[in-house]
Amino acid sequence: MRDQFGRSITYLRLSVTDRCNYRCRYCMPPEGVPHKAHGDICSLEELRDMAAAAVVCGVRKIRVTGGEPLVRRGVVDLCRMLRALPGVEELCITTNGALLESMAEPLRQAGVDRLNISLDTLRPDRFRAITRLGELADVRRGIRAAEAAGFSHLKLNCVLMGGVNDDETADFVALTRERPWQVRFIELMPMGPCAGWDRDRFVPVIRVLERCPELRSERSQGVAECYRLPGAAGTVGLITPMSHAFCGTCDRIRITADGRLKPCLHSMEEIPLRGLKGTDLTEAVRQGIARKPLGHHLESGSDTGRDMNEIGG
Ligand code: 5AD
Ligand code: SF4
Repeated sequence: MRDQFGRSITYLRLSVTDRCNYRCRYCMPPEGVPHKAHGDICSLEELRDMAAAAVVCGVRKIRVTGGEPLVRRGVVDLCRMLRALPGVEELCITTNGALLESMAEPLRQAGVDRLNISLDTLRPDRFRAITRLGELADVRRGIRAAEAAGFSHLKLNCVLMGGVNDDETADFVALTRERPWQVRFIELMPMGPCAGWDRDRFVPVIRVLERCPELRSERSQGVAECYRLPGAAGTVGLITPMSHAFCGTCDRIRITADGRLKPCLHSMEEIPLRGLKGTDLTEAVRQGIARKPLGHHLESGSDTGRDMNEIGG
């Protein structure tokens, strides 16, 4: 269905947990987040029903997010249920990759079409420093397992941070020579722990083009502006959430793990879905879509009222 500004809403981002096995510095405090009580988090069946209502309202693509979605018990079963909903054309997951080595194959079997893997550095020491708890080798094994399971066109998401990883852009771009991956550079958004970071941490991703002048522009894909090295198997995507660029064509809604519909990532507005069934549930989703705001004002900070770990980017 269309929202009040005529945007067609076809994409649901479904957060299945607020927990994570990493503590990335821009996303979480060192001690992690106070865990929501289990009863505050929707059951797999509730999440499926909410997603089903969104599909009735016109959603065609679902992305499972977190926190880290793969730490949610039963996530493979949930994926199977979501992929089986009539009308769902694409099921994707965004993951930090830590658990993919054992889960890639079951996720593929459950019908997951695509994977996005968050990877901010290719250096083991930096990886530990950024994620606080992570080991790069786990993610590397996860990536290999994903390819072996048939996820060939992986997307690797790299949040660009000045003075942290911006000297690695050429290394990331070089990965696309041999592999049909899309390496995506994402601008750091001032939310949660990184809201007060130094200005020079926030680097416009267009800088990637200065570091890699060989990149040639291609047709843009969704929110990513695409580029390719001459003859490369894969592509490079630049994602610029700090500008208003996407709001006019935004096609997405979000549902949080505690069962609230967020029409816009950066708005406080939430529609509680828990406890609703059948047409009441569909009607609530419909109203949420209708109330989607026109845009955000990220330059002056996010109004989301939530941290990134709760809404999964
Ligand atoms: N700015 C940009 N991206 C972020 N992510 C988490 N926090 C931020 C932020 N402040 C990204 C993660 C991951 C996805 C879930 O969201 O790196 O790729
Ligand atoms: Fe976990 Fe992703 Fe947040 Fe890192 S950015 S702590 S992997 S949810």
